[in-house]
Amino acid sequence: MSRVYVFKDYGGPETEALLDRPIPQPGRGEILVEVKAAGVNPVDWKIREGQLGRSPNRALPAPMGREVAGVVAAIGTDVEEFRVDDEVLGPVAPGQGGFADHALLRASDAVTKPAELSFEIAATIAVAGTTAYDLTHAIDLEPGATVLVLGAGGGVGSLATEIGRVHQFRVIGVASERKRELIESLGAEFVRSGVGVAETVRELAPDGVDLIVDLVGGEALRAVAPLAKSPDHIFSAPDPETAEELGGSGRPNDPESLRRITEVIGYGAITPRISATYPLAAAREALAYVESGHATGKVVIIP
Ligand SMILES: NC(=O)c1ccc[n+]([C@@H]2O[C@H](COP(=O)([O-])OP(=O)(O)OC[C@H]3O[C@@H](n4cnc5c(N)ncnc54)[C@H](OP(=O)(O)O)[C@@H]3O)[C@@H](O)[C@H]2O)c1
Repeated sequence: MSRVYVFKDYGGPETEALLDRPIPQPGRGEILVEVKAAGVNPVDWKIREGQLGRSPNRALPAPMGREVAGVVAAIGTDVEEFRVDDEVLGPVAPGQGGFADHALLRASDAVTKPAELSFEIAATIAVAGTTAYDLTHAIDLEPGATVLVLGAGGGVGSLATEIGRVHQFRVIGVASERKRELIESLGAEFVRSGVGVAETVRELAPDGVDLIVDLVGGEALRAVAPLAKSPDHIFSAPDPETAEELGGSGRPNDPESLRRITEVIGYGAITPRISATYPLAAAREALAYVESGHATGKVVIIP
């Protein structure tokens, strides 16, 4: 048997449960991965709430967790890329879940885990890592460009801040006071979130900013949008609607971003910050922490 964390119906955390099931078998083009670590993301509870639609293809109970790292335990037909015992990372296949002892991945979506990386770090790359990569590469910028990261202390924001610094951008990171130390340790200038953010950033960057990387959306995004030198240099992962209204866009999706950011993290240029790890039996607590909206860095579940 194999454990999997699910939601039984669309709604709140009370619908979540840890179930036993037979080990899933990989189909065509799929690999079965023994999960060593799984990243927790806001999308996990947003799917549970039905915010991403109540897909008739998502059978209930629905497995939770979108990004994993682990060891290949079995191979489906037509898989050329991997062999049993390979260490891999990637997003789970549609309808599958990563908060589990075993998960199915599409072989074409997975990549080899660099040997230097721990499974915990590797488990943060497929969702948070690629998002941070896509947002920071949304437009071509020269070293010295000014990038504003709204929500710089969270899973995606802390990585986006690090990537920005690797490119020698000047990064201004907006977060709550308790994340000041983290933001400054990442090499960014800290600005406290809340009232007066736009004025403070304007004092630091009187000519405005070259890129806005938004991880918060809504009113917080509206408040800083006028700081962008050009409105089409605003990119929002959580709130594409507001970004578009302001002249910007949602997250771009580069199909090569998983390979690229895995390579960059593999050679140690940036290191995802993991603030908390939880055993699978405590998946509810891990999700509740991320659902609070104020997580620091990445949160990881270890089966
Ligand atoms: N479209 C996509 O493909 C995609 C992919 C990944 C993520 N996302 C979305 O992007 C968002 C961020 O993801 P994440 O994984 O980084 O989430 P996270 O780890 O929960 O981080 C969110 C951060 O936002 C900060 N925050 C909240 N209100 C703020 C405000 N008014 N000003 C500044 N910071 C504020 C929080 O920190 P404080 O405690 O400092 O407030 C927290 O650190 C989520 O909504 C997620 O669903 C979308």
